[in-house]
Amino acid sequence: MRLSEDFIAELKYKSDISDIASSYMQLKRRGRNLVGLCPFHGEKTPSFNIYAENGSFYCFGCGVGGDVITFIMKIENLDYMEAVKFLAQRAGMTVPEDAVDDSMSKLRTRVYEANREAARFFYSKLLSPEGKDALSYLRGRALSDKTITRFGLGYAPNNRYALTNHLKSKGFSDSELIAANLVFKSRSGNYVVDRFVDRVMFPIIDLRGNVIAFGGRIMSDQKPKYLNTSDTIVFNKSQNLFSLNNAKNSGTKRLILCEGYMDVIAVNQAGFTDAVATLGTALTTEQAMLMKRYCDEVVICYDADEAGQKATQRAIGILRNTGLVVRVLSIPDGKDPDEFIRKNGDKGAAAFKHILENSGNDVEYRLFKLKQGFDLNSADGKFAYLSQAVKVLSTLDNRMEQDIYASKLSEEVAVEKNSIMEQIRKSAKSRYSNDRKADFTKLQSKMSGRDDKMNPEHQKKPRVTIAEQNLIAFLVNNPDKLTTINRLISPDDFVTEFNKKLFAYFFDRIKDSKEPLTTLSADFTSEEVSSIIAIISNYSQVAATDSAMMEYINTIKEESIKPSDTDIASASTDELDSYLKKLKEKRK
Ligand code: UTP
Ligand code: MN
Repeated sequence: MRLSEDFIAELKYKSDISDIASSYMQLKRRGRNLVGLCPFHGEKTPSFNIYAENGSFYCFGCGVGGDVITFIMKIENLDYMEAVKFLAQRAGMTVPEDAVDDSMSKLRTRVYEANREAARFFYSKLLSPEGKDALSYLRGRALSDKTITRFGLGYAPNNRYALTNHLKSKGFSDSELIAANLVFKSRSGNYVVDRFVDRVMFPIIDLRGNVIAFGGRIMSDQKPKYLNTSDTIVFNKSQNLFSLNNAKNSGTKRLILCEGYMDVIAVNQAGFTDAVATLGTALTTEQAMLMKRYCDEVVICYDADEAGQKATQRAIGILRNTGLVVRVLSIPDGKDPDEFIRKNGDKGAAAFKHILENSGNDVEYRLFKLKQGFDLNSADGKFAYLSQAVKVLSTLDNRMEQDIYASKLSEEVAVEKNSIMEQIRKSAKSRYSNDRKADFTKLQSKMSGRDDKMNPEHQKKPRVTIAEQNLIAFLVNNPDKLTTINRLISPDDFVTEFNKKLFAYFFDRIKDSKEPLTTLSADFTSEEVSSIIAIISNYSQVAATDSAMMEYINTIKEESIKPSDTDIASASTDELDSYLKKLKEKRK
């Protein structure tokens, strides 16, 4: 079911993109636009633009763009209908009933319900006789009953049909349970069986309080230690964090990033509710951007082992890139935060508080780690350490920070601070020039159309593709020129399929006196929407005069009458003559 044009127009009118985006990010005015750090990829200089005049946004860094509905879909991780509902609620509008029940939304709702019911089931099993061993396992890991309840931990019984039978008795169908990844088809394909069997269960809850997935730990040393829900229509493991639902209410502007479920839970029990963990994968930029919405500072609290330290270095880069302040907590003894807290018994919480308060920042951490690899007593070692350290400091974009560490370094290796600063500047300069080169290469490849995924013909015919794009942008921005354009060119004259489709789309809308962009996010996929906004927002950079318009039209028409190489090879003399004549006419 489709929403009416009027409904979307009113919704968009009441959902000012500048206001809405401002509640998620900091925006500054630049000319007629607003700019800010893109919330969809990590960056330190703003390439995210909001065009208030047509209610769209576009990021020149990652190429994501769209209207206010697309923005909410992306930032809240919702599908189209959910984003519409979200905005409607905010605007005090009611989405027409018959529009809501599209099958995808319905299935999502069922998956949420199945997950919630499964979480209840696992919890009740943990407290039943069947869950005796699981409960003592958790208590053996020093979890209090209060903590177990707070996290809604549970037990998946040692019976392949326990959850399946329960959920079926509650009216869930096989396909709903498969979509939730709670069950899978037996080998014969005739019936379904539980995915989680004889495991301690950790529900994963999103920011709206929905149970979206589970982690299940085996209580022996069999493998896999943890089994997690695979990605489903309600769960994407690279875009969620364990316990962010708790951490967002902690009242601090800090998050403690751990490796595992048990670490987060132990840290919570020790009194720090601002702990989160990734879900069985390495930290992603999306997760870092998500964290940025709830904090200014992240304390990395990974395992003390080699793998944990490697992951720390990687996470520092990702987090810093999103503009977060980063600190690193080193666990002095024990393997991970959970073990550290437990080892310290009654004093666990206090001991953790102590190392948390004493955790240094990421630069100190990197320099410290670096130093371990060199023998500072030898001149060679000292020199090698210094050159590496200078590289680290040259990545800092804060002069004051560079200055502070240069002073420290100067004392440490007994080399004059000025010469260290000099080296830092040199290194920063060459980094800058490398970055510019990379930008240039990126721009070049963009202009060549090589990475235009939406319009595969772009690369082969860059000149006409660009003329088509410019004409589309011209039309959308000057709908009053429709009649003029209509007299000179029709969609059929367009050479590339994608642009032909776009031109026809906008042409028809404007002809029907509709606002060109109102239903864009309903009519195209989100990748298409990004491409379209890129084309339209490029408008300010192209000439917008009538003579420019004529040039675009001529370029397109020239190309559209041009026969292909195979046409030429098989053409008769008459055909070639007529083509040449046409060309001459156009050139007049
Ligand atoms: P660890 O192996 O460090 O486990 O994995 P842990 O958190 O210390 O767990 P306990 O204390 O032994 O119970 C860290 C995280 O990596 C993911 C889980 O999210 C886990 O919490 N993981 C680990 C998996 O997804 N699957 C596995 O088989 C192992
Ligand atoms: Mn552990």
